[in-house]
Amino acid sequence: MMLPRLVFLLFILPRYISALFFGRFFSLFGPDPRLQASCTGQCMFDLSCRLKYGQKAGECGGFYQVCCTFDGFGRALGGSNIRQDRQLNLQDFGPVENERGCGRSGVSSRSRRVVGGTEAGFGSFPWIALIRGGNSRCGGALIRPSWVITAGHCVKTAQWPSRYRVYLGEYNLYQNSEPMPRQKFYVSEIVLHPNYQFTPQADRYDVALLKLDRPATLMPHISPICLPDPVELETGERTIVAGWGATQPDQGSRPKVLQAVDVYTLNNTDCESWHLAAGIRVNIYPEMMCAGHQEGGKDACQGDSGGPLMLKDETGKWNLVGVVSAGYSCAKPGQPGIYHRISESSSWVSYVTKNEV
Ligand code: ARG
Repeated sequence: MMLPRLVFLLFILPRYISALFFGRFFSLFGPDPRLQASCTGQCMFDLSCRLKYGQKAGECGGFYQVCCTFDGFGRALGGSNIRQDRQLNLQDFGPVENERGCGRSGVSSRSRRVVGGTEAGFGSFPWIALIRGGNSRCGGALIRPSWVITAGHCVKTAQWPSRYRVYLGEYNLYQNSEPMPRQKFYVSEIVLHPNYQFTPQADRYDVALLKLDRPATLMPHISPICLPDPVELETGERTIVAGWGATQPDQGSRPKVLQAVDVYTLNNTDCESWHLAAGIRVNIYPEMMCAGHQEGGKDACQGDSGGPLMLKDETGKWNLVGVVSAGYSCAKPGQPGIYHRISESSSWVSYVTKNEV
């Protein structure tokens, strides 16, 4: 008869008390939100960081909270489940292999926000992916039945890949009566580019791969885009960027319907000097590229990150040339959008994804 009471007193009650006490204790001494925002890794107790073999990259305020970062040597970034393999010689990944029939829009495309854009037309870009989860919404592109490519900064803080949901075949976000249904996925694995690096400007190698929980069922409105061979892209090419990002800079509202806009590629030195003329000093590293209009007016914007910058070749096949990464405001004159240059990573992307469906 005494036993249950004894168990309660000895085991259960102390837990309640400590949970109450520590719950409050932890929230009082948790990280400072401002310091947390500027932490490139993860805020945690100093001791936890050491136990996880992380490096202290700064303070996070609160009670012994430090900004903890992890190296790229196979250990997970931020103590999470993101894979970031050791730095490898990026030439070693072999030729780019594409999915058969990639880069074709299956639904007869209407001609063509993204700022200054127009509605893309249902099924025009059947690889486009909407990624929800984490703190934000991002774009992406299907490259294999179970792999989606997006921006590194979209997923770098992931604690659990399964927190993300990926939608394919999406078009109007608030309508369920589209010609063909969307498909919803969870993410089973996140692979961040080995050289991904946060910077206060545009992140370097801002690209990541998401493995879906199952292969997508390919349909006219759901099919992969082609990866380009690792060759230098011409400047002055007319490319298209698409997404559900803001249609006005500095505005919270988002379009319902997928937007697309044309932007022109320019070379990195021009991109730097355009920005400089607008009073902005930015390094455009070789794995980045810019596209836009010198007079402004058309651009990707907040919420478009991770989305594809696409180029149609002579045969009518679409290639992925860039991933939306950064920009100084949106569509401002002399401030084109900054993209990850896919030709710099396509061999790695192909290698990581090719034997896995
Ligand atoms: N970093 C932004 C995002 O997370 C994308 C910014 C693109 N901006 C631009 N002006 N092209 O959605």
